[in-house]
Amino acid sequence: MGMCGIFATTNDQDAGKTILSGLKKLEYRGYDSWGIAVKGGGKLRSQKQTGRIAVSKTNLPKSKMGIGHTRWATHGGVTIGNAHPHFDCTGKLALIHNGIVDNYQDLEKKVKGHELAGETDSEIIAHLIEKELKTEKDLFLAVKKVVRLTEGYNAFVVMHQDFPYLVAAKTGSPLVIGVKPGENLLSSDVASLLGHTKQVIFLEDGQIAKIAPDVIRIESYTSAKEIKSVVQTINWTAKSASKSGFPHFMLKEIYDQPSVLTNIAESKVKEARELGKAIAKAKNIFMVACGTASYAALAGQYLFAGIAGKQVNSAIGSEFYYYDGFINTRSLCIALSQSGETIDTLQSVKFAKDRGAKAISLVNVKGSSLDRLSDETILLTAGPEKAVASTKAFLAKVAILLLAAHAMNRKTPHGVIEIKQATRAIRRILDFKYQKYLKKLAVKFKHSHSMFILGRGVSYPAALEAALKIKEVSYIHAEGFAAGELKHGVIALVNQNTPCLVFAPNDETYRDVISGAMEVKARGGLIIGISHKPNPMFDFYLPVPDSGNSTILPNVVVAQCLAYYLALARGLDPDMPRNLAKSVTVK
Ligand code: F6R
Repeated sequence: MGMCGIFATTNDQDAGKTILSGLKKLEYRGYDSWGIAVKGGGKLRSQKQTGRIAVSKTNLPKSKMGIGHTRWATHGGVTIGNAHPHFDCTGKLALIHNGIVDNYQDLEKKVKGHELAGETDSEIIAHLIEKELKTEKDLFLAVKKVVRLTEGYNAFVVMHQDFPYLVAAKTGSPLVIGVKPGENLLSSDVASLLGHTKQVIFLEDGQIAKIAPDVIRIESYTSAKEIKSVVQTINWTAKSASKSGFPHFMLKEIYDQPSVLTNIAESKVKEARELGKAIAKAKNIFMVACGTASYAALAGQYLFAGIAGKQVNSAIGSEFYYYDGFINTRSLCIALSQSGETIDTLQSVKFAKDRGAKAISLVNVKGSSLDRLSDETILLTAGPEKAVASTKAFLAKVAILLLAAHAMNRKTPHGVIEIKQATRAIRRILDFKYQKYLKKLAVKFKHSHSMFILGRGVSYPAALEAALKIKEVSYIHAEGFAAGELKHGVIALVNQNTPCLVFAPNDETYRDVISGAMEVKARGGLIIGISHKPNPMFDFYLPVPDSGNSTILPNVVVAQCLAYYLALARGLDPDMPRNLAKSVTVK
């Protein structure tokens, strides 16, 4: 059922209220409808709505146990009938689901005659459990049997009127148990649990858990033996997962970036050195990632080539399989991911490991699937990233790769200096006056039909990332190009007043990128120059102090801010772009 949010509690003063606030924290995962079911007076009661969560309280009775869900539609449209929780025919069983049940068409045949309220794959599972309960009197065992029949990457949580516990099962999508004796909870992510507990257990694929206020029993689907899981302590604070006075998470996270980089410069040197050593040792190296993270990987490819003289390939998660012939026991797979739950990235790592390769990941969420799957993990320590559009995690990944590249060249201290320079440059960009100017530019260009972003070398991935940020939060068509490619076709699209962002840093790309920009200007395009010095051909100038190899970091920050203000100028909520979800846990 897509990339949804799950939140549940077993013993709260007011489960409906707590779940509603938990769901609000999870809305970034998917948000075209939501629903909650609680167990009140021995009966199940529910509330479901389409659209964003617009209410401040539920109309549910006070109750102790409940489950809630935010939905990002995959199977079936955005309707109340398709919103979760789903019920069985008796109304005694409620189920929430994240993922896609690949074999739902086969399973549907097994519940012929049952009354289905919507068209989702999820609802079929609720009815299958109902059917199973006719012979199997234990809910935990009934769910276990049904989940075994499902195919795909999923997470299910089931509540039943007649049983004093919840059942949670994971075959792919993330599920975290919030360990709070007397009041255990469940969620799709750690950040939403922080106000309740910092002790968590990450369910593994193939595990099923019985959760009551004072019971957490975990088994695998295939055995009745209890699995003793490690309780992990999360060191994020509840405040770090809040907007801290900023109007949006995106802006808050943009402003977090100087401290994220300072932290990396101070505490990641050792790990970056280790990464450099692993790269030096491996025969062929692939960085795999999706979306913004894949642009961080591409930036890394340029940085390793330029700084360390080392070929490190980057591949998009969903395309990695096509390199099969090159992945073996001497390969190194470096996975980059904020969430650590992106299915294409995870599958790439599994694929590489199956062929004997070593896997190191750069990941922000401790305990995430990618963290657990990898041989080694370098945590980004960027703090929770909640806006759908990734910002600080991108910078953190690039900064760590930059340090590793310098480490390979035995110049780690220089890498640290460059990151500190970039941090200072970013502080200048985040200054009030600079931001005011960016806001003005955004208002000027808010009606643009499309925008182009040009860069060469490491500024090429910066251009791709800038374009992605602008597209996803402002819905303006934006394309990033290697400046030299323009004349090979794209220039046909440039006409009068097409805004064109040009990254022209103080490196070997400067002259060539300026001449690429000239080609645009000659056709009526407007040039917004992002550079260490003004140039007469810039129609608008956004200064970014030279920070050596790390200039990509402040350059991207300029684009992040512009994207943010473009969204505001167009009356959009940058934190919740349409059609997008933070954690892409479906293929
Ligand atoms: C864009 C964005 C996405 C993610 C991508 C990978 O702003 O956030 O493109 O970068 O879905 O996500 P992670 O890094 O969690 O693997």
